[in-house]
Amino acid sequence: MMKTILITGATAGIGRETARPLLAHGHRVLLHGYTRERAQHTLNALNAATAVPVDGDLTDRHQVLALAEPVRQPTPVLDVRLHNAGGYASHTPPDPGRF
Ligand SMILES: NC(=O)c1ccc[n+]([C@@H]2O[C@H](COP(=O)([O-])OP(=O)(O)OC[C@H]3O[C@@H](n4cnc5c(N)ncnc54)[C@H](OP(=O)(O)O)[C@@H]3O)[C@@H](O)[C@H]2O)c1
Repeated sequence: MMKTILITGATAGIGRETARPLLAHGHRVLLHGYTRERAQHTLNALNAATAVPVDGDLTDRHQVLALAEPVRQPTPVLDVRLHNAGGYASHTPPDPGRF
């Protein structure tokens, strides 16, 4: 049965590798990235027909709140939420041009 799954930080590492088999099994995965471009790039790289790109810097409260609508829009129900985004504290801002 197809599930709708949100994965934050799906553009790299564990998040991206977790998305891969879920997409291969046909689940709808909301792929979250810092930027829409980064999420879209990951979606393209995974050749993911059932993925939906969403974006936002999760250290920015306004961007977190803005993320709610595109997450809610494709479906009112999230079956699974994988709160994966994170890392070690750094003052280096994200580089939106880096994929
Ligand atoms: N790997 C380990 O050994 C290990 C051990 C313990 C805990 N963890 C935790 O497991 C999670 C995944 O680890 P990982 O090794 O896969 O890390 P990773 O390769 O650095 O991937 C982290 C993901 O989170 C995204 N991200 C980070 N901060 C964000 C923010 N403020 N807003 C939006 N996106 C953000 C990154 O986006 P960009 O790619 O755009 O930067 C990336 O997609 C992290 O929470 C980490 O702390 C990992």
